[in-house]
Amino acid sequence: MKGIILAGGAGSRLHPLTRVTSKQLLPVYDKPMIFYPMQTLIDGGIEDILIISDPHNIGNFVKLFGSGRDFGVKITYEVQDRPEGLAQAFILGKNFIGDDNVTMILGDNLFVGDDDFLKAAIKNFEKGGRVFAKEVKDPHRFGVVEFDAQQNVLSIEEKPDKPKSNFAVTGLYIYDNSVINKAENLKPSARGELEITDLNNLYLKEGNLDVKIYDHYWLDTGTFDSLLEAGNKIAALKK
Ligand code: TTP
Repeated sequence: MKGIILAGGAGSRLHPLTRVTSKQLLPVYDKPMIFYPMQTLIDGGIEDILIISDPHNIGNFVKLFGSGRDFGVKITYEVQDRPEGLAQAFILGKNFIGDDNVTMILGDNLFVGDDDFLKAAIKNFEKGGRVFAKEVKDPHRFGVVEFDAQQNVLSIEEKPDKPKSNFAVTGLYIYDNSVINKAENLKPSARGELEITDLNNLYLKEGNLDVKIYDHYWLDTGTFDSLLEAGNKIAALKK
């Protein structure tokens, strides 16, 4: 299993904090944000990790992590010239992924409270896609899962005006090697991005998408309030 941390993007909701630095380098209590998704991959037993970021910030990640040896992992770096969508990671990461399966985590997503959940999810992963959904108060900000009465997944809708449930797809995705081919055949959405939700719906149509409920603490730190909440939560846990 290879790992990717996607750590580019515009970070426009956090301006001016992100005008000269990357969102994923901002502090969450006592560490740069990206340390948390890095730890999640390491706890998952992943040792070969690609960091993707924009041309302006990629060098700072090299300064932070170097070869990865100090962290017990091997780190490779790739540039995303423009923020053209989450699913583009699998095109940029094609050579890195090779013939393997891949787990991608977003550089601004924190999964806290169970160090073993990813290892368990990877252990019995064979093929298809596996994503993690979490009940939230503001589902319209995310990809939202629609379930039928038997809790089967019917669809995933990207940032819907009228969400069909409160379950958001979190920023952690496990895919088999067909993700490269699927990503290469995606068309950009109306907002000009290769959408991870389109990728997930391709797996769903094949009958190959496993949606697990994540019942620990999850935060997307893309807004001022969620960034502050994340810092407070980590501080409280540490104390
Ligand atoms: P978002 O939070 O959706 O986007 P953003 O970081 O550009 O922020 P904003 O909406 O405030 O402008 O992105 C989720 C994560 O994915 C985040 O860690 C940034 C990263 N990302 C990329 O690396 N490349 C991309 O093309 C996109 C869209 C996001």
